[in-house]
Amino acid sequence: MTEPNQDRAVQILLPREKIAQRVRELGAEIARDYRGRTPHLVGVLKGAWVFMADLVRQLDLDVTVDFLGIASYGAGTNSSGEVKITKDLDVSIEGRDVLIVEDILDTGHTFKFLQEILSLHQPHSVKLVTLLDKTSRRVLPVHADYVGFQIPDVFVVGYGLDFNQQYRQLPDVRVMRSQDSV
Ligand code: IMP
Ligand code: MG
Repeated sequence: MTEPNQDRAVQILLPREKIAQRVRELGAEIARDYRGRTPHLVGVLKGAWVFMADLVRQLDLDVTVDFLGIASYGAGTNSSGEVKITKDLDVSIEGRDVLIVEDILDTGHTFKFLQEILSLHQPHSVKLVTLLDKTSRRVLPVHADYVGFQIPDVFVVGYGLDFNQQYRQLPDVRVMRSQDSV
């Protein structure tokens, strides 16, 4: 890496305080829905790692956690629709109440792929929580059970989300300047 390019992501879409407030609300809602059960949270690497770390600390529940590595984009901002596993699950999900934790639901290809491969392992249930949802970009008829924020069709970075592996460390969700994001 040469020099930081944070000037290309100047517009804050979701400030950190607003994210923190919404993550608290999601945590309370999920804890209510799973009361008496021990959900198995599966974070989708790498984008969901920051959200998952914050969400799990807002859950007044017993939980277990695992991570699945997925690559759905190469360089750039356009989804090829091709998804591959870069890190498999460590623990069996058979009979478990699986809660997939995603950073963003866009075309729906990644979630559809996850639903298909996870259901082969006979979980008791599979739900999805996503921090961000770009409904207007959806290609496949999938939806999340819990959504942090609906956002417009803009490319966002920060709070775990990247552009070419950069910007993940930004504490707010920011919009990439469009002329730079193709
Ligand atoms: P989908 O398969 O099109 O639903 O895309 C989901 C994945 O694409 C997400 O988990 C992200 O990794 C990536 N993605 C989609 N939109 C954005 C964005 O605006 N910023 C960063 N990554 C994105
Ligand atoms: Mg992702």
